[in-house]
Amino acid sequence: MGNTAIERLLTRRSVLARNMTEPGPDAAQIKQILTAAARVPDHGKIAPWRFILLRGEGRQKLGAVLRDAYRDIEADASDAKLALEGEKFTRAPLVIAVVSSPLASHKVPVWEQQLSCGAACQNILHAADALGFAAQWITEWCAYHPKVLNALGVTGDEQLAGFIYIGTAIEPPKERPRPELETIVTDWQGPLS
Ligand SMILES: Cc1cc2nc3c(=O)[nH]c(=O)nc-3n(C[C@H](O)[C@H](O)[C@H](O)COP(=O)(O)O)c2cc1C
Repeated sequence: MGNTAIERLLTRRSVLARNMTEPGPDAAQIKQILTAAARVPDHGKIAPWRFILLRGEGRQKLGAVLRDAYRDIEADASDAKLALEGEKFTRAPLVIAVVSSPLASHKVPVWEQQLSCGAACQNILHAADALGFAAQWITEWCAYHPKVLNALGVTGDEQLAGFIYIGTAIEPPKERPRPELETIVTDWQGPLS
């Protein structure tokens, strides 16, 4: 498989955050990735998403919050485990926290606004891939913990759609099974062939 758009769409794979290393995207590439993220179908032109960058030293600033929040999940967590959770965002050079920020009062249903946010996440994965980087969309416990959300400034009707880790793959990911089209496609014309 090569590098055409369709080839990339047909072969992109997530790389586990723990299998990422430097380098990550530079400032110009981050702007490209975010520009692609904001270039998604958006019913009503609401821009119901926003992005928080965790990179460089910014990745460690939530360390104390993460450790404190993790104690709520595992009260007797070891110091080593707490340290690991606190360093979570340092697994990759760049983490983009994608915030779903729908306008509840808008005539466009919130569901459609959330779908647009999911599309923004996927565009980030593809933009990172197109630039030669590895990426993974992760929520884990911290996308739902009120203390973490509060520290990130995620409020009101907002939700954390995911943390998208971006970096360089230590090794290429192996392929994983994908659903057979017959099991997920209905064609009113007749069997897809
Ligand atoms: C909304 C969302 C949240 C996810 N959260 C996690 C997670 O917390 N941990 C995890 O290992 N994978 C999570 N995944 C799955 C990975 O992003 C990814 O789908 C998986 O590694 C397979 O990758 P691929 O099919 O893109 O190659 C999540 C996926 C989505 C869409």
